[in-house]
Amino acid sequence: MKVVVDDNMNYLQSGDDIISIKDLHKHFPKIHVLKGIDLQVKKGQLISIIGRSGCGKTTLLRCLNCLEFFDSGTLRIAGITLSRVKSEAEISKSFRKRTGNIRKSFKTPFKRTDDEAELDEDFHIKVQILRSRVGMLFQNLNLFPHLTVLENVARAPIVVKGEEKEKSIRRAIQLLDKVGLKDFMKRYPYQLSGGQAQRVAIARALAMSPHVMLYDEPTSALDPELVEEVLQVMRNLHKEGMTQIIVTHAMHFARTASDMVVYMEDGKIIESGRPEDIFSNARDPRTKQYLSIVKD
Ligand SMILES: Nc1ncnc2c1ncn2[C@@H]1O[C@H](COP(=O)(O)OP(=O)(O)O)[C@@H](O)[C@H]1O
Ligand SMILES: [Mg+2]
Repeated sequence: MKVVVDDNMNYLQSGDDIISIKDLHKHFPKIHVLKGIDLQVKKGQLISIIGRSGCGKTTLLRCLNCLEFFDSGTLRIAGITLSRVKSEAEISKSFRKRTGNIRKSFKTPFKRTDDEAELDEDFHIKVQILRSRVGMLFQNLNLFPHLTVLENVARAPIVVKGEEKEKSIRRAIQLLDKVGLKDFMKRYPYQLSGGQAQRVAIARALAMSPHVMLYDEPTSALDPELVEEVLQVMRNLHKEGMTQIIVTHAMHFARTASDMVVYMEDGKIIESGRPEDIFSNARDPRTKQYLSIVKD
């Protein structure tokens, strides 16, 4: 996999796409999960990805943040370009090898696989840069349980970026204020509601000054009355110009807050467009069918 970091950050000022995904494929053993994803996102846009369970939404987000590595295609995100070309034959060959290596791994634990040999120089450093520019929030389990709310938010910039402690704490307080939780900074995660914990997790991701935020069903584990306070944080970030992609089942939010809605099915983007077009005027019968069964 080749990774190129563009350090001039021109894309933050220009009208360039901040995310550009071209023909992205991802396989897990026995399953072709992403079957050629193409998507362009402009700076400041809020994109909602919707679709049935198992269609590949989480895998797509994980590929955008390099928690998974795609098999082929090109991804440009926040000034970093990753590209990889792998034929179907090579993919199935690497599955056989990988399984073989697991069996042998007790004897030769550090044997390089083909995948590792193919990585470009400084690959891991570049992936670290990417992750610092692309924040990600999961459904739950986002906070360190043994740290206070303030420590949770202030910690990463100190540890990862070597930021001065005082400065990081000042910024953490500002961010907690932004998500409406300044008064909770001395609490521990177990003393928070699910909605409050997700808002702290958003503040924690923002502390790394990301250029893009990704959210994987951030409100799915919450009681219904707590959903809105989390979604409101995303609406506010949208007004401030943050680029955001959210995988969600909150249809009302997708319809009213996003610039673009993307409907996925079976590893493909079936249809994407402005929310009013997708929700009232979907062209593809598969999109129509899905929307007819989901409720707000
Ligand atoms: N680590 C993995 N190993 C093998 N299969 C996986 C893995 N992660 C996801 N899958 C499979 O890939 C498909 C897409 O999963 P996922 O991206 O989680 O879908 P969604 O988020 O839309 O529900 C599913 O069939 C799932 O079982
Ligand atoms: Mg998922």
